[in-house]
Amino acid sequence: MKQRLIIFDTTLRDGEQSPGASMTREEKVRIAKQLERMRVDVIEAGFPAASNGDFESVQAVAKTIKDSTVCALARAIEADVERAGTALKGAAVARVHTFIATSPIHMQKKLRMSPEQVLEQAVKAVQWARKYTDDVEFSPEDAGRSEVDFLCRVLEAVIKAGAKTLNIPDTVGYNVPDQFGKLIRQLRERIPNSDKVVFSVHCHNDLGLAVANSLSAVLQGARQVECTINGLGERAGNAALEEIVMTVRTRQDIFPCDTRIDTTQIVPASRLVAGITGFTVQPNKAIVGANAFAHESGIHQDGVLKHRETYEIMRAEDVGWGANKLVLGKHSGRNAFKNRLMELGIELESEEAVNAAFVRFKELADKKHEIFDEDLQALVSQEAAAHVQEHYKLVSLKAHSETGKQPYASVVITEAGKERRAESNGSGPVDASFKAIESIVKSGTELQLFSVNNITTGTESQGEVTVRLQKGGRIVNGLGADTDIVVASAKAYISALNKLHSKLERINPQAATV
Ligand code: KIV
Ligand code: ZN
Repeated sequence: MKQRLIIFDTTLRDGEQSPGASMTREEKVRIAKQLERMRVDVIEAGFPAASNGDFESVQAVAKTIKDSTVCALARAIEADVERAGTALKGAAVARVHTFIATSPIHMQKKLRMSPEQVLEQAVKAVQWARKYTDDVEFSPEDAGRSEVDFLCRVLEAVIKAGAKTLNIPDTVGYNVPDQFGKLIRQLRERIPNSDKVVFSVHCHNDLGLAVANSLSAVLQGARQVECTINGLGERAGNAALEEIVMTVRTRQDIFPCDTRIDTTQIVPASRLVAGITGFTVQPNKAIVGANAFAHESGIHQDGVLKHRETYEIMRAEDVGWGANKLVLGKHSGRNAFKNRLMELGIELESEEAVNAAFVRFKELADKKHEIFDEDLQALVSQEAAAHVQEHYKLVSLKAHSETGKQPYASVVITEAGKERRAESNGSGPVDASFKAIESIVKSGTELQLFSVNNITTGTESQGEVTVRLQKGGRIVNGLGADTDIVVASAKAYISALNKLHSKLERINPQAATV
């Protein structure tokens, strides 16, 4: 029997720390359900001390999820641990994950604490967490730049205090695979009772080595990997779940362990996270990129046709490609629509929400004859966004573009329920629409990103637009989908403005001091 490699997904916590990737409570619950369907072992649902919104999101995920452990992050502060433990009440299986930095630079410059104070605080944090659950995880933040002797002392002490999982983070993505693997081996060899706990790793991708470092650690005995869908996460992101899972599954000749992940749920999870956060996946991204299984060159195509394994080491259908199903059309009824949402794991809050989504579905089906799962996901995401933040609403948009003429747009929006209209020229119809909207809202934001992707294939497809806006250090992403990409762009712009307007402020767990 192979040993289990525990998959700890932190898309909802570390993933959300990517600037602009913040998610609503409903969005987090939807992602958590998909992670559960994928059979992720542990879902890190958030950092409850960050804000009331984060607390409520963790609570909602804890109440919904039954087959995965639900985890909440807490700094090594009593109030944080108490918030995490309370948010997790009602979870089928709850884990508190507490952390404190152990590297000289973090202790001196960030925490302004001596190593002895850090050690004492780490032990106390684990003891506080034990009041809420036996499943306590401890992380020495910036372990990748910490002194091994000190790490051993802290980890030995937290095992004594009752920690069951020791997570070793390469917080700044500084390590290289051989070095990181050796660190795990040393810790396992040197720390008394190391065989009584699970060693976990949490690698960041600043040098593009997060997956390689994590896998090197697995070869040296780590049995939990912390990762995120699509590698989302702070700065360059975390180790990508899909790459970890598929490497271990594909190279069972090398790895002495395997995960329990249902790999056919990987692509749906990737699409869901990309759709909700607006962090699109690059086409050549391993496993989940649009080109990951596309064979362009004649030689490759010939080989694959003759014998698949000549150029394919995994099967596209095993990771969930090909699930691009035609599900509904113009004549589909409300029941068919509701059933398909249920099959996709989407539960709308009320009958009114189903009715509103059904009206949107009919509007879409009038414009686009074939409706795919991806269209439904986009439709529901927009429906959810419209309910949470609606200071600004798009009422109508008229855009004109013609060769040799200056593009022009006229928009009607509501601002706090009051109708406002404006028109503008621009370098193209999207530019003209944004200028018209901006002349009403005067947001003074800086546009950092504008990207358009087709949700499904063909020119009938809806375009999904991401708009990233920056103002006063805050970054937000707005999403919009429509068969008309100018309308999709205006919706995305307004969705980003609404997020900025909501002024949702949260603290980043790692920026704050103890
Ligand atoms: O990167 C990191 O060190 C973290 C910890 C909180 C585990 O995210
Ligand atoms: Zn991290």
